[in-house]
Amino acid sequence: MAPPLFKASAPGSLILMGEYAVLSGAPAIVMAIHSTITITLTPRTDTTIIIDSALGQYQTTLNSLNITSPFEYVLTMLKYYREKIPSGFSLKIDSEFSHAMGLGSSAAVTAALLKVLNDWLTLSLDNASLWKVGLSVIHQVQGKGSGADLAASLYGGTLVFYSHPFQVRHLTCNFPLHAFFSGEKVSTKIALQKITPTPHWIQEMKLCTEKAIAAIEKNDEIHLGKLLNEGQKLLRNLNVSTASIENIIETVRKAGSMGAKISGSGLGDCVIALGDFPIPASLDYVTTLQVKNALGDPRASLSSYAVAYAPSNIALCKYWGKRDISLNLPMNSSLSISLGNKGATTELSLIQQSQHQIIMNGHLLNLEHAHAKQLHSYLDRFRPNNETAFLVKISVNIPVAAGLASSACIYASIAKALNQLLDWKLDKKALSIVARLGSGSACRSIFEGFVEWQKGSRDNGEDSYAIPLNINWPELCIGLCLVETKEKKVSSRDGMQRTVETSTLYSAWPAQAEKDLMLLKKALQTHDFDLLGKTAEQNALSMHATMLSAWPPLCYSTTETLALMKKVWTLREQGLSVYFTQDAGPNLKLLFEKSNLLTIKEHFKNVEIIEPFNL
Ligand code: PMV
Repeated sequence: MAPPLFKASAPGSLILMGEYAVLSGAPAIVMAIHSTITITLTPRTDTTIIIDSALGQYQTTLNSLNITSPFEYVLTMLKYYREKIPSGFSLKIDSEFSHAMGLGSSAAVTAALLKVLNDWLTLSLDNASLWKVGLSVIHQVQGKGSGADLAASLYGGTLVFYSHPFQVRHLTCNFPLHAFFSGEKVSTKIALQKITPTPHWIQEMKLCTEKAIAAIEKNDEIHLGKLLNEGQKLLRNLNVSTASIENIIETVRKAGSMGAKISGSGLGDCVIALGDFPIPASLDYVTTLQVKNALGDPRASLSSYAVAYAPSNIALCKYWGKRDISLNLPMNSSLSISLGNKGATTELSLIQQSQHQIIMNGHLLNLEHAHAKQLHSYLDRFRPNNETAFLVKISVNIPVAAGLASSACIYASIAKALNQLLDWKLDKKALSIVARLGSGSACRSIFEGFVEWQKGSRDNGEDSYAIPLNINWPELCIGLCLVETKEKKVSSRDGMQRTVETSTLYSAWPAQAEKDLMLLKKALQTHDFDLLGKTAEQNALSMHATMLSAWPPLCYSTTETLALMKKVWTLREQGLSVYFTQDAGPNLKLLFEKSNLLTIKEHFKNVEIIEPFNL
């Protein structure tokens, strides 16, 4: 029998905007490229470690791990995990790109090794935790570094990245982008030692990046081009541009590029250029490569891999009860708020197998698992044929099936990833319908901010989808009070059905929901927080009342849930404007405004705060 091996690939990356400023907490836009580094680990029976890569061969033992060039990143990581590593192993590193071109090879190696060790040592860490470990390795090796390239290598796609506190958000960027290597590369470590931007410069770069994010979100290529040129001006003022870079920039602009700039710390590195222009022949002395960035993910255009993120959402007016079970068509319309960076990232690829492989937060789901059947039959709807299935890796950063709408973000991120992988080119309305087929509430997670799911009336569900309400409420805060993170015994799917079929109070629910929806929309339009809070809390309690009167009765609340509710009621009597909502689980979500943040933190010690409009 062949020895077991553990294998993972991670893409290289290019930074589009935000260099240097990202180290001071400003955002950066970073993109994974189509070329990857693959690491294969084969465990051994002794303590020998053999590293084999194009950069050379290195042999040592588990007990004498000394950090030596060119394997500093690998060896530092092995030292970090030393206590957990059970035996020696051989490590093969295969790279599709040169480490000397400024394409984030160190970060890609770090990311691939993190993933391999995560599998081998069954650590089950999500991407965010892997990033933290990886960044500590990068800091040990090179001193400074934001970890933006590491995030791109771990998550794939185009990301808005913040280093502290760590945050990533996927962007969909469909523009053609090309990278040209300048022929020189100064290590990021040296560049960061030499260059110190002023606070004013950092502010300028921050603004430029924020505008670039908005331009990408608005699909405004012309504006993005201008901003790239502005970014280059800033980098030029920082003295990190070189003659070779300036030459490339001038040449691509003449050829029709809409904007071009350095990608990375400069003093060499690559130029990234926007636009569909003929690649100038005079640039054939440098390496030309295309950033495959179709549909937000560089590797999507290869149609073998896609990655997509969707936020979770919390309903202020609940969806409770179906008029069609197979299509998840609701009895009532609902309204929710999306949770920004709390959600799910799904990586999807096609495999030549008869059964889907689903990995949830690092664990292979077997078919017995409560979610697995549902996910399998959802994926079956979209598989190309019986011999081809999907390999699905889902990372969720909220507890799964604890009434925190994890199914919403999971199915929405799968729908988005399917759209990329299978090149459907669906708009958001259609994607909302696709997500709804997995889980009703998922149709709302296609959008950010406040979202309404219009129940529709047609039997085929073509008019039952979500729409964004485009209302901004920066002061609105949500506080997650986790009472329990265990999976619940009765899924919302089953709970809903039992309620519709047996509850003595259910007949009053659809009318109540329609009324609450109207009141919530009024509250949103007038920014009337107390009307919003009161309506959302009453709506949730009414939904739970329909469950209590079902048979057998259904009660998701625990003693702790009730204690929390009473605390909210007492605080409100004392004049604090705080409300709660509760889904099909014991956890409560507090609703309050930012002015009361400190008071809320004082009263609810372990509350996790989400500001949906201030990410
Ligand atoms: O979409 P499902 O099947 O997970 O049901 C969600 C039900 C509630 O979370 C209780 C309400 C809602 O609208 O999100």
